[in-house]
Amino acid sequence: MTTEFKKETLEEFNEIVKRYPDKQAATIPALHLMQRDQGYITDEALEYIAGLLDLPVSTVHSTVTYYTMFYREEMGKYVIQVCSTLSCYILGSKNIVEHIEGRLGIKAGETTPDKKFSLIKVECLGACGTAPVIRINDDYHEDLTIEKVDEILDNLK
Ligand code: FES
Repeated sequence: MTTEFKKETLEEFNEIVKRYPDKQAATIPALHLMQRDQGYITDEALEYIAGLLDLPVSTVHSTVTYYTMFYREEMGKYVIQVCSTLSCYILGSKNIVEHIEGRLGIKAGETTPDKKFSLIKVECLGACGTAPVIRINDDYHEDLTIEKVDEILDNLK
């Protein structure tokens, strides 16, 4: 796997950087572009971005590891993020995690052997008013029940 942006992605990156007062401020967009291209952020990709932004590798590493939206390893086709923060927890996120673990045969933090699903617990997804909430790739699913979770997973099978 290459660790550099594709040619068209580099052009996109150069356009994005122009919107910021300095290029270091484009760290998160740069990481999004890399993850979009490669699926996750390798050590080599992280070093490449640090070089592009004239930042220490440790700074980019800190950003990648702070945000749960950035992945450090290959993930499944569907990444299921289950909010485990207070509102969702009180309204049953623990049961949802356990139910999904049972259905997929994996634990939170793992990916199914066929690389179809990854399951991770995350902090607040910013939709506390409709807890409990999961996010699958870019889609939010709110006001969840176990039945709704089953319906969602059935539609992804
Ligand atoms: S606590 Fe779950 S979305 Fe905020």
